[in-house]
Amino acid sequence: MSPPSFEYSLTEILSAPLPSTPSVCSTIDKQPRHAYLEFFAGSGLVAQGLKTMFTPIWANDIDVKKAAVYTANHTEKHFHLGSIADVAGNELPAAALAWASFPCQDLSLAGLAGGIHGKRSGLVWEWLRIIDEMPAAPSILVAENVLGLVSSSGGTHYRQLHAALTERGYKVGAMLLDAVRFVPQSRPRIFVVAVRSDLPVPAELTSTTPTWLHPASVQKAASGLDNWVWWQLPEPPTRLAVLADIVEFDAGYANTQSDERNISLISAKHAALLSVLPKKQTFVAPGYKRTRAGKQVLELRFDNVAGCLRTPSGGSSRQILVIRKNGELRSRLLTVKETARLMGAPEEYKIPGSYNDGYKAMGDAVAVPVARWLAEKLLLPLAESYADQSES
Ligand SMILES: C[S@@+](CC[C@H](N)C(=O)[O-])C[C@H]1O[C@@H](n2cnc3c(N)ncnc32)[C@H](O)[C@@H]1O
Repeated sequence: MSPPSFEYSLTEILSAPLPSTPSVCSTIDKQPRHAYLEFFAGSGLVAQGLKTMFTPIWANDIDVKKAAVYTANHTEKHFHLGSIADVAGNELPAAALAWASFPCQDLSLAGLAGGIHGKRSGLVWEWLRIIDEMPAAPSILVAENVLGLVSSSGGTHYRQLHAALTERGYKVGAMLLDAVRFVPQSRPRIFVVAVRSDLPVPAELTSTTPTWLHPASVQKAASGLDNWVWWQLPEPPTRLAVLADIVEFDAGYANTQSDERNISLISAKHAALLSVLPKKQTFVAPGYKRTRAGKQVLELRFDNVAGCLRTPSGGSSRQILVIRKNGELRSRLLTVKETARLMGAPEEYKIPGSYNDGYKAMGDAVAVPVARWLAEKLLLPLAESYADQSES
């Protein structure tokens, strides 16, 4: 697979409206005609990405703090705080699309024990129970999760989800989209898109062979599956924005002691790389603390891209920025604004709550431009095609 090429500037990502699509709502006050339901809606970044194409008519999450972020940016009217276990499908409004970014803890590298039947990732089955209870199931379903969904245990987690969806009368394909194609953050995520089998899919949206969306792990998980679809989307243009573009270089440093300790933990190899850079040049390198041969080290990356934001629960560390400015080498955590920028959230996106709340709200979310690209290039054309058929 060839390496991705990038062509988006930060200004374009953060502030430009979507390139207008004739079928998207044509007047400012008109809502997009396709309704969607969002499960595990978190801080609302999917709703942000989809908003010019799909109208959220119902959303749910159990987390009070994330609900505060969601409702500060989208209307409160359709948000339902509480566990998915208490949602009854027969009470939900009809919609073209249902999206579920279900919990990843049991599928992520750190916590693989539970898998797709784990306590948290297994909530995906509640989502399917609700779909079963709906009088008219949505024509399009999207499930989003970490790479472990397809790559771990030889793809069995994905294959179980695939079987459950095909049994319900959908044809299904999974794809990998990495937020790094849009924003300077490495964030590979799996998007499973299922559409009702009786509805024809426009030919240009599928391929007969794997595409840039299907690395070896996806191809392996897909091998031999019935009702599998190789989705086809155009590749995004080259990203221009780099990490240094989103960093708040004037943000303060919290604590000299931890700051100095972090600098002292930089691995010998990376300290050597830093030492050859011009001392007067402003510079930023992100990194995570890791234990190597029993010793804690701070490992940096030098490609002007942040590592994947993650929530610091479960003992994993937060990402650290090492910054050289005015000849001084310092370190600090990312600001909440920087995490929001790394997720492609617009500058005006409101993130109420503490530092930890904000970091978690962004670290757990779906990058806005990824959700937008998927919706614009695949979900909206599907929804338009189905709506046109039912109207004709
Ligand atoms: C991967 S995050 C999804 C984030 C969201 N898509 C966003 O962009 O912010 C998973 C979400 O599942 C929620 N969640 C966990 N258990 C839940 C439950 N029992 N019922 C409803 N939501 C739950 C978490 O609060 C979290 O926001």
